[in-house]
Amino acid sequence: MISKIEQLEAELKAEIAALESPTAADAEALRIKYLSKKGLVSALMEEFRSVPAEQKRAVGQAINALKTTATQAINDLKEAAECGIGASGGLDLTRTASFAPMGTRHPLSLVREEIIDIFRRLGFSVAEGPEIEDDWHVFESLNFAADHPARDMQDTFFIGRNPEVLLRTHTSSVQTRAMMASKPPIRIICPGRVYRNEAISARAHCFFHQVEALYVDKNVTFADLRQTLLYFAQEMFGPKTEIRLRPSYFPFTEPSAEMDISCHLCGGKGCSFCKGTGWVEILGCGMVDPNVLKSCGIDPEEYSGFALGMGIERITNLKYQVKDLRMFSENDVRFLREFTAAH
Ligand code: DAH
Repeated sequence: MISKIEQLEAELKAEIAALESPTAADAEALRIKYLSKKGLVSALMEEFRSVPAEQKRAVGQAINALKTTATQAINDLKEAAECGIGASGGLDLTRTASFAPMGTRHPLSLVREEIIDIFRRLGFSVAEGPEIEDDWHVFESLNFAADHPARDMQDTFFIGRNPEVLLRTHTSSVQTRAMMASKPPIRIICPGRVYRNEAISARAHCFFHQVEALYVDKNVTFADLRQTLLYFAQEMFGPKTEIRLRPSYFPFTEPSAEMDISCHLCGGKGCSFCKGTGWVEILGCGMVDPNVLKSCGIDPEEYSGFALGMGIERITNLKYQVKDLRMFSENDVRFLREFTAAH
């Protein structure tokens, strides 16, 4: 009798184990088969009556134990089926989750977002334009003379044989689009990818990223530009950062300047990074040339504006000392993972 009880328990366990994806109906079928009034366990009870008196205790205990085990196993199966879990216990909901390793954001994205964030606080909003552009938006409207060297095939990627269609060489084309599309006041920041026909090396690439800012309104002055630049530099590189503006030339601004910041590595004392000068160049800027305003339908007698443009790779290099520009586009995960903590 005892071995019969043991065999029945083994059969029940085997039946449960054989169920690949048990349902509540499977559990119910097993309950009926084993535990109902006419079930196999109840049948054992019948047999129990004829067990000799001296064995009754042991057999009775064994039957009770089987009843408990079977009830428990069938109830577990029913619960598991209701939660959609396999009987084999494939999923343990009480286990601590094992976290999938997080990806990292690209350093250029981190820096782009930081730049945008700083300008947003000054009331600038993001504007974007196409990477495939035409000559008018990239050059002509921005006061490039017809023989300006930047129009040369050396610098610009043209698309097909049409000299009118090209990959933008700077995000200044978005200035034009914004001025054409809306009336002043205009306060925009334009991040994006730009292309130039350059040989690829550690210091140059045929594509890179820029952020352009443009502010056009009544009475915008060079002092507004200077204060905006100082705010940006100190937010980006720390409150002790100083700025210096050097006269420069861009066709679309007059006057034009290049901005240096005091070297944030040596604090301006002079080191190998700033080549002993204490200053590092970071961007170009100036007052929007009246010709540019005019070509975009804005009256330069009524409005004035400032613009600035910077390379995101350049700013990223200053912040993180990336030595080779090519690292930014090679997608080496070892490089990208170095920026895990920078989020
Ligand atoms: N477009 C210039 C370049 O690609 C950068 C620049 C300089 C943008 C001066 C400006 C600016 O808006 O005012 O080198």
